[in-house]
Amino acid sequence: MNFNKVTEQHLESLKKIVGEVNVFAQMDKREMYGSDETEDFCFPPEVVVLPEDVKEVSAIMKLAYENRLPVTPMGARTGLSGGALSVFGGVGLSVERLNKIVKIDEDNLQVIVQPGVITQVLQEACQEKGLYYAPDPASRGTCFVGGNLAENSGGPRAVKYGVTKDFVLNLEVVLPNGEIIKTGANTLKNSTGYNLTQLMVGSEGTLGIITQATLKLLPYPKHNLLMLIPFNSAFKACEAVSAIFKAGITPSAMEFMERDAIIWTIDFLKDSKLKIGDETQAQLLVEVDGNDTEVLFKDCEVIAEVVEKYGAGEIQFAESQAQKDALWYLRRRVGEAVKSNSIYKEEDTVVPRFELANLLKGVKEIGNKYGFTSVCYGHAGDGNLHINIIKGDLSETAWNEELPKGIREIFELTVSLGGTLSGEHGIGYVQKEYMDIAFTSAELALMKSIKQVFDERGILNPGKMFV
Ligand code: LAC
Ligand code: ZN
Repeated sequence: MNFNKVTEQHLESLKKIVGEVNVFAQMDKREMYGSDETEDFCFPPEVVVLPEDVKEVSAIMKLAYENRLPVTPMGARTGLSGGALSVFGGVGLSVERLNKIVKIDEDNLQVIVQPGVITQVLQEACQEKGLYYAPDPASRGTCFVGGNLAENSGGPRAVKYGVTKDFVLNLEVVLPNGEIIKTGANTLKNSTGYNLTQLMVGSEGTLGIITQATLKLLPYPKHNLLMLIPFNSAFKACEAVSAIFKAGITPSAMEFMERDAIIWTIDFLKDSKLKIGDETQAQLLVEVDGNDTEVLFKDCEVIAEVVEKYGAGEIQFAESQAQKDALWYLRRRVGEAVKSNSIYKEEDTVVPRFELANLLKGVKEIGNKYGFTSVCYGHAGDGNLHINIIKGDLSETAWNEELPKGIREIFELTVSLGGTLSGEHGIGYVQKEYMDIAFTSAELALMKSIKQVFDERGILNPGKMFV
């Protein structure tokens, strides 16, 4: 790539744009902004800048464009595919100061929000007005809306309400040359021209920097019921998933956790009161929501009848809000628990939900072949399985040279089952070498041409998505 290094003169220009206190060139800050939650990577940018508004983002991009400086957009850096890593150095552009909820439009059930707002903060602000913003990645307490838009994040509630893309109506975006555009309109329907809004969502900061989003809201569902269902066979648990939908129920969450995922998280949390039976190999955490509790209890009865056919053990209902919170707290911390336990690699596979059991079986077989163990959990209702491959006592050679072949086999299996590489974490830096499994060369060439149209100098988030 034909980039320039950041010079003293560039630093001065950046300070003029955002103010001296919002430019960091010292190593400790650069290192901090050089990592996200992906494995233990650290790629420090040469300088970190914290713009305050769209005009400053535009001015930074103009400077970067004219001087051929790579720019890596950053949110809260909670990503799991390395999308925010400054792999070519350059400018790290954090949107953390664009952190305002501009307007909650109660008349239209919409919210206008800046990218540096924490997802849970947005959810709670909407909830206060009886409105629901459903996308809820496990990291919702720390991740930013901007990162969710960039990666098209999902989370447990996606199974009923959809992922981030399903809530996006319109975006304000700064293009790599500094130009500011709007991608759509603040309307629920839009058949006007190419859909630039949805092209931008999930483009991992490679096409433009999102500086404002108009998102759709729903009325907040009044009630929910949460049940934890144990199984003696992880495969049977997976098979039960599609059977529940076939029985006519759409749960608001349908999460799968393998035994090790549960045990590791209980240990990680230390004071968790949750227990797991000796025979339990996996659990489904199933939630139903709506406005009528009678209906929800009936839904739970149907679910109980279905899972019994798949050998489920005794179902535990969360009786109180505290019990619900404890179960969700455990589920949302599985990723951190795995990370604290061992060096690992995470794959974010997704298949049509009926194929979930076949995917899990195949992953275990590939593990046996290459000698690795895996801890699996995820959003079963979406067929989205997070496969955590554990380093354990694998040698460096096995980890670095043999494992990529095993991962390739996992992705080949996923695609052969009708699925694809990532359901919600993105391709970023760590999965790009596998894109040829999901796409033909013609399809990849189309995507690269789109990148070229938006960013002919290749300065925005280089080193991501494509090899
Ligand atoms: C989760 C994150 C890792 O589901 O996506 O916990
Ligand atoms: Zn997830």
